[in-house]
Amino acid sequence: MDKITVTSPLLPPLEEVTPYLEDIWQRKWLTNSGYYHQQLEKELCKYLGVPYISLFSNGTLALIIALQSLELKGEVITTPYTFAATAHAIKWNNLTPVFVDIDPNTFNLDPAKIEAAITEKTCAILPVHVYGMPCNDKLISQIAAKHNLKVVYDAAHAFANKENGQSILSYGDLSILSFHATKAYSTIEGGAVVCKTLEEKTKLDKLKNFGFESETEISLCGMNAKLNEVQAAFGLASLPKVDESIRARARVAKLYDKAFSKVAGIKILHRENNVELNHSYYPILVDQEKFGITRDKLLAKLQEKNIFARRYFYPLITEFDLYKRYCGLTPVASDISKKVLCLPIHAELTLAEQEVVISTVLLSRRAEKK
Ligand SMILES: Cc1ncc(COP(=O)(O)O)c(C=O)c1O
Repeated sequence: MDKITVTSPLLPPLEEVTPYLEDIWQRKWLTNSGYYHQQLEKELCKYLGVPYISLFSNGTLALIIALQSLELKGEVITTPYTFAATAHAIKWNNLTPVFVDIDPNTFNLDPAKIEAAITEKTCAILPVHVYGMPCNDKLISQIAAKHNLKVVYDAAHAFANKENGQSILSYGDLSILSFHATKAYSTIEGGAVVCKTLEEKTKLDKLKNFGFESETEISLCGMNAKLNEVQAAFGLASLPKVDESIRARARVAKLYDKAFSKVAGIKILHRENNVELNHSYYPILVDQEKFGITRDKLLAKLQEKNIFARRYFYPLITEFDLYKRYCGLTPVASDISKKVLCLPIHAELTLAEQEVVISTVLLSRRAEKK
């Protein structure tokens, strides 16, 4: 049996990319806010229902520059249950991460625990919509307003995700997206900052282009974080395909729900009816006592069958030496990180392949119990 991978990239048909490439070769405009870069920013604003977008060469640089644009100093409250880039972006800005525990049901930063971590040095909150599940923005924005803090959402997983029919990218002061190849929508590598005003977008645009104000003037200590024309064209060719790809992922998620919702020792992530997800991830929590085997044993059993699930997010950020000294008390995140396993989910996963994943999970437990 072929490898069953945790994800597979959304690739636009090659023949639909070629005309873009021919045009780029004609124009000879390869980067620096090119023709297709501008077009993709407009199309994404329309598709996502947001006012302004600045494209970046990846989500990590988008996040670093989003924080830089706010000219922050001091401590930033964030979650340890995320990808390393979230914490790295704080460190790259010479800010101090303060890790707060997560909610056991949503796996997102727990708003009830934020206020206890606020000090006179706190300048911002950086929550992550983990697996694209919306954070509790109502409570987070109330806390931020009360303490005069900025809120930057790491929405790397939340492309096209909605709550009550509205894009969750409108939450907070800024949101960042990742368009990495593994995400629901990709430009191979790429990312974006979603902002609310033209002034903010202009500043972000300058920061990603060395801080150039004009041909002869540099006003900010910027970086090179631009998305090139070939990747923007790939993004334009992919955009019309993303809805169908999300629908296919949703079908996979529904079948997993059916298979696992009543299995002792497996907890699935509860999805509210008012939330629309892009279904990039299908996490399950494996409770060794009730399921019979550990998460890692299940991972190994799947691998024996050529199925490659992933432990997102394990270890916790605060378990890396680099971040150990910022570690607070985060028992919920610690527990979930030891139990979580993300199962294969993508638009090309066939029913037969999914059935193999499901039966392997269920049989692993039975085989061990005998
Ligand atoms: C939560 C989170 N934040 C940030 C990033 C960084 O995005 P990129 O890989 O585009 O730099 C990722 C990437 O996987 C992520 O999962």
